[in-house]
Amino acid sequence: MKIEHLGIAVANLEESIKVYETLLGTPCYKKEEVASEKVMTAFFKTGESKVELLGATSPDSVIATYIEKKGEGLHHVAFEVDDIKAEMQRLKDAGFRLLMDEPKKGADNKIIAFLHPKSCNGVLVELCQAIKE
Ligand code: CO
Repeated sequence: MKIEHLGIAVANLEESIKVYETLLGTPCYKKEEVASEKVMTAFFKTGESKVELLGATSPDSVIATYIEKKGEGLHHVAFEVDDIKAEMQRLKDAGFRLLMDEPKKGADNKIIAFLHPKSCNGVLVELCQAIKE
């Protein structure tokens, strides 16, 4: 599986966009709100992968809660799959705990599903599949 992106939780999205534009030497190519999660995302291309910055849009956002508990930093690792439902089933059968039964719409034209960090040695893992246009 290719690492599609790394998700990084940030306290101030606009400030962090500047930091990552300088770090990666490339502009943010997309900002997109995921209203269901109360999160604003900002994407950067780097090599074959991407970086996704995640900022809370509300104090009760999952990202606000995360930063309160753990501080800013690496939030999840996203692997690209061709058939997300098949992968979810395969991993479920292998004993992994999924955080959802059905894939849901994520940012950047993807459907996504998360695996519980307890199943992945402390890492929140996202599976993502590109939505065909
Ligand atoms: Co992600």
